[in-house]
Amino acid sequence: MRLLDTLRSVMRFRRFELDAVTRRLARSASVADLRQIARRRLPGGVFDYIDGAAEDEITAGRNVEAFRRIEFRPRVLRNVSQVDPSATILGRRVPLPLILSPTGFTRMANSQGELAVARAAARAGLPYVLSSLSTRSIEEVRAVSTGDLWFQVYVWRDKELLAEMLQRATAAEYSTIMITVDTAVLGRRERDLRSGFTLPPKLGLDTLLDGVLHPGWTLDFLRGGPISFANVTGKSVGDGSDPVALADYMNSQFDPSLSWSDVEWFRERWDGKIVLKGIQTVEDAVLAADNGIDAIALSNHGGRQLDGAPPPIELVAPVRHAVGDALEIYCDGGVRRGSDVVKALALGANAAMSGRAYLYGLAAGGERGVDHVLALLDEGIRQTLVLTGSQGLDALGPELVGWRDG
Ligand code: LAC
Repeated sequence: MRLLDTLRSVMRFRRFELDAVTRRLARSASVADLRQIARRRLPGGVFDYIDGAAEDEITAGRNVEAFRRIEFRPRVLRNVSQVDPSATILGRRVPLPLILSPTGFTRMANSQGELAVARAAARAGLPYVLSSLSTRSIEEVRAVSTGDLWFQVYVWRDKELLAEMLQRATAAEYSTIMITVDTAVLGRRERDLRSGFTLPPKLGLDTLLDGVLHPGWTLDFLRGGPISFANVTGKSVGDGSDPVALADYMNSQFDPSLSWSDVEWFRERWDGKIVLKGIQTVEDAVLAADNGIDAIALSNHGGRQLDGAPPPIELVAPVRHAVGDALEIYCDGGVRRGSDVVKALALGANAAMSGRAYLYGLAAGGERGVDHVLALLDEGIRQTLVLTGSQGLDALGPELVGWRDG
């Protein structure tokens, strides 16, 4: 008893948090922490689908590494008692210069999937780009969100289906389409080849064992109901109601003949804004500007397409230099911290985009995990503005950053 009294006099006991998700999130100080939790909680094949990338994953690694090579030139004594990270993206005021990237099969991470992400994005006031290959439909996602929704499209062979999806996105008041242009064929994701990953997962002895080893995920997955490509269910062969290897499915849908004339095809059928995702050179950025595109996402698909493609953050300054103010530039790939967002803006981007960051959060803590990631990024952006002596985004410019060699 004496010991307890003594202890009490020098320290306070923390109340044990009963809610497991709250406990997990409270201990996650960064997106990297959430990734570790996601790795523990998800079956190997599912984690690898999210975390993995093409071939040797060199580009995926460099996307993240490139941000580490950027150093700030912080200014001091600049009264940063108030900082304002709000931005304008395609004419709308947003609290942060951040867009939630489209990700396929989001219900693999958590059964709430795209609904959870859409709700969290709306709460944070940020645009969310729903993937064509989502596991909740255009309408289901709109039903849970009054926020700004964008719709991601590929150049599919089946133009009738594509045109119908655009009509549905218009009817559901999506403001913007984002055309993914880096996917003439699917990249070679070797982790998926090794694990034999299919959608939905095929039940085999190994999957059963994996399921038993990850009971939290398995219970949630089983409760979530059948999983399929929600936007095309019943409309095409291979709509996901039968297990299908991702590469087979995508390669049957994607049109490798895609070209700038397809962009015209979209323009004739879409009245809203148009963003091209997957621009990877200055030349193509200039062509996009010449074609009157509203915005480009500098992106290599998180390193999931061409291994050896350049990190988007390295393209931001040269592309801005070449296109001037002709279009908005978003930097997609490797964004894990608020400071990464600030770096992208200093180099000339209008906003950053992130996909894996929120997927790790979703896998680690469901919808609250996505909230947590968005809060971490928000905090990180504010903290970086303060510590670099920047009152707002207008204060960010190339003089704020420099590249280190190593
Ligand atoms: C992927 C597809 C869905 O990267 O874009 O897996």
